[in-house]
Amino acid sequence: MTSIPSTSEDFWRPALHFTAERFWINDPNGLVFACGQWHLFFQHNPQGNTWGHMSWGHAVSRDLLHWRHLPLAIAEDPTHMAFSGSVVIDDKGTSGLGDGGQAPLVAIYTACAQPPARHQAQHLAFSNDGGTRWTKYAGNPVLDIGAENFRDPKVFWHGPSGRWVMAVVLAHGRIVSFYASADLKHWSHLSDFGPEGGVQGIWECPDLISVPVKDHAGRRAWVLKVDVFEGHPSGGSGAQVFIGDFDGQSFQSTQPARWIDHGSDFYAAISWAHVPAEDGRSVWLGWMNNHRYAAATPTLSWCGAMSIPRVLHVRDDGAALLLCQEPVSELQAARREQRRCGPLGLGAGGADEVVGLGAGDVLDLDIVWRPGTAREFGLLLRCGGEQATRVGWDAERRALFVDRRQSGPGPDDPVFRSPQYAPLAPQADGSVRWRLLLDRCSVEVFADGGAVVLTNLIFPSPGSRELKAFVSGGAAELVTMECWTLEA
Ligand code: FRU
Repeated sequence: MTSIPSTSEDFWRPALHFTAERFWINDPNGLVFACGQWHLFFQHNPQGNTWGHMSWGHAVSRDLLHWRHLPLAIAEDPTHMAFSGSVVIDDKGTSGLGDGGQAPLVAIYTACAQPPARHQAQHLAFSNDGGTRWTKYAGNPVLDIGAENFRDPKVFWHGPSGRWVMAVVLAHGRIVSFYASADLKHWSHLSDFGPEGGVQGIWECPDLISVPVKDHAGRRAWVLKVDVFEGHPSGGSGAQVFIGDFDGQSFQSTQPARWIDHGSDFYAAISWAHVPAEDGRSVWLGWMNNHRYAAATPTLSWCGAMSIPRVLHVRDDGAALLLCQEPVSELQAARREQRRCGPLGLGAGGADEVVGLGAGDVLDLDIVWRPGTAREFGLLLRCGGEQATRVGWDAERRALFVDRRQSGPGPDDPVFRSPQYAPLAPQADGSVRWRLLLDRCSVEVFADGGAVVLTNLIFPSPGSRELKAFVSGGAAELVTMECWTLEA
């Protein structure tokens, strides 16, 4: 393994992905659109670069790209850490926690007893200044079943039944429990979902979201997302979704469980609450990391980044309902220099071929290929010396892949070093295409309209900046590549 450069925090710090000013972050928490701003709360250690002292950090944005850091929102206290949870705007005044001015923001989060105790229960905190200053509710806990692994409440207003609904996990049981409340302070159990789908690892961070079905005006589908601590196809932690029906009481899955990201680094995503109706999007982001190796990632003064915010829709392709994710359109405002290339025939002489396509460490690109006889074709990102991250298509597997074996001094873990494959058939016209977002320590790949996604961390040297195309084991055509540099 290469030694870790002492200025790593500067050259691996993302240009466009959220990081804390300093120190450790994990899950996004309490995502809410309030007073014209996208609020991002997050699991944060305000004292160090490893997990611990869990508290809620806070940042706001007007465009989902530029974030302003705000003071710690909910701090740990001598008895409890503040684990993951959600925020709602109590615009009907159901909780009585307002002060007569604007509607209060209410956070519903898991208070986890300080070690060595292990007890977990759901607590409230509220803000009457639009989310900057928070007060812990004096009547906490609001939901306590005496459990040690009962966490990550996601609360939303369920219009048809006129009450708040909470999805929360019994982590070790691999169960999402649903509760209802009229006032956010008293909760009654509605139903349980699970174990089902991926159950090798404990379950964490549920979200139940009503997502628009593309090209079916007015139709929506209920999506239940829940993360697994281990047992994701990449070998570590990851996220699965169930799509089905929610009647205000219980969730029934009508589709098989599916992994929503075939990379290693997309976890604990939750969606923004109270997105204005005129916007109408379902938007989420996830922690761009993996519990298997997060503590071993090589950044020194900060640790952990969020994925790019993504818009969700469900696609009904006749046989199945699929959850699709695409980067928010706001990202286009960060596009600067544009380059185009293609058509370019590669590997026609029978020998493997690599061609240079320029350089860059923060890029947004769309690429279209026509497979020929090649066994593999694709892109080499952040090349320099021995380093390169390979993103390509494997003809025999008919799969998109990301290979980080030479992506720099990442964690010494097989999950980091093993290539990942996501099934991807050529389109009806025979082409294979993907969109790729490259930032200083990450690669996010989107294909098949966002139904196939791979999110991964990489840690190349600052001098490794070249972008190349490769073809091996035959011929393929790079039909077009459109590429933009991105700048915050
Ligand atoms: C998921 C998680 C949550 C928990 C939080 C603690 O990454 O383990 O289940 O609330 O992190 O930081």
